[in-house]
Amino acid sequence: MERRDFVKTSAIIGASSMLPRFSFAAAKGSDRIKVGLIGCGGRGSGATCNMMVADQNIKIVAMADLFEDKLLKGKNKIANFAKKFDNSKEIFDPDKVKTFTGWDCVDNLLKEDVDVVIEATTPVFRTPHYAKIVAAGKHAFLEKPPCVDAVQARQMLELSKKADEKGLCVVCGTQRRYDAGYQEMVKRVQDGEIGDIVSAQCYWNASLYVGGPQFINHEELACDTMEYQIRNWFSFIWASGDHIVEQHVHNLDVIMWALGDNRKPQEVRAWGGRSTDLPMPKYGDRFSHFAVDFDMGNGLRLASYCQQDPKAAGEIGERLVGTKGVMYSNLYGTISISDLDGKKKWTYDKKGRECMVEEHAFLLDAVRKGKHVNKLDQLVNSTLLAIAGRMSAYSGKKFKFDWVLAKSKESFLPEKFDLKQKMPWKGVPVPGKYELV
Ligand SMILES: NC(=O)c1ccc[n+]([C@@H]2O[C@H](COP(=O)([O-])OP(=O)(O)OC[C@H]3O[C@@H](n4cnc5c(N)ncnc54)[C@H](O)[C@@H]3O)[C@@H](O)[C@H]2O)c1
Repeated sequence: MERRDFVKTSAIIGASSMLPRFSFAAAKGSDRIKVGLIGCGGRGSGATCNMMVADQNIKIVAMADLFEDKLLKGKNKIANFAKKFDNSKEIFDPDKVKTFTGWDCVDNLLKEDVDVVIEATTPVFRTPHYAKIVAAGKHAFLEKPPCVDAVQARQMLELSKKADEKGLCVVCGTQRRYDAGYQEMVKRVQDGEIGDIVSAQCYWNASLYVGGPQFINHEELACDTMEYQIRNWFSFIWASGDHIVEQHVHNLDVIMWALGDNRKPQEVRAWGGRSTDLPMPKYGDRFSHFAVDFDMGNGLRLASYCQQDPKAAGEIGERLVGTKGVMYSNLYGTISISDLDGKKKWTYDKKGRECMVEEHAFLLDAVRKGKHVNKLDQLVNSTLLAIAGRMSAYSGKKFKFDWVLAKSKESFLPEKFDLKQKMPWKGVPVPGKYELV
């Protein structure tokens, strides 16, 4: 399949899908929301289970995945999970759910009568898939990251406008925004509890390298094929955008949220490389670590660090230092506000429903009540920081942040889609040699 065919939006937009649905039950004759899942891997199947916990008045009617084995695995996981609900067959009936595989699976799923789509495929495909979802007039839950390069970021911002015009809801998988603890923490910061912000840091430093060899029926796939690289997408820059974009975006998003979602860097300078000694190309071409210095203007610097090296010391969290105190959230610890002497003034230990459930409750409530919600622009803006950081680290160059969205032509989506095709091996980016485009 060629890129122009893959990105071509499906020509199945009925007139009714152009209209906002202000009364879901009245428009549909039933208030059971029909859901389609695109990308049935770990998170796609997990998100579907989270959605079932959030709201049992849904029905999973269709599933799509590039690979049949992944689809079957996801289907089994969802079927087992659904058994815990009394009306499980109403929510998910493994004998009746429509399933689609191959490169046209998304087009085929979107021809089905679905109201809401969960998109949780490999990052590089999110933007072209969302173009099809919007064209088909469906509400969406999109996993992060929404885009992997500036070309896709621009496309996503355009699609976001189209979603608004059509009254389509879109919620994204930055689940901390739906966590009561993070919400309270951000409110306290925005209410001035730590004073004026003077410095910011965020971290996704993990003690493991995500990704590795892929096997089918115990046979190892050749690592230079498109199939291997999609299955082991974490390791390849073109597919994931690198872990600064795919994973660290969570932390950058918390910082952007706490700063009010209306700040943006002036300039970006980043450093990084690959210190992991796992063999290439089997373990991909991506960096193992990044450090980015974002000049946020008015004297504020945001220092952002991420690392995936086996056994390296880990820390995942966000910190803001203000003139009166410190905000610190740790994914595996507590969330707190302290005074400048380090004395805790407020802490929050996670409790209540999981935020990965709450994000779906938020979306489904909006769809059912005909409220328009769109969380895509926020996440594209946070993702642009990660994209800019990656570009600066790869190239070794310092540049104005605005240049990325306005001018960068970097585009990772391949020209052709053929699972057997050999992918060019360019090696790990070398600062000073990697071209900034
Ligand atoms: N919010 C979170 O905390 C969180 C956690 C984990 C993963 N994620 C995100 O979810 C996404 C998926 O991650 P995962 O861990 O489930 O990966 P995964 O590899 O387990 O699942 C991805 C699935 O997408 C399918 N796929 C790939 N390309 C496709 C295409 N063109 N058309 C249809 N299907 C396609 C794959 O076959 C696979 O089944 C990623 O973007 C990741 O960043 C988010």
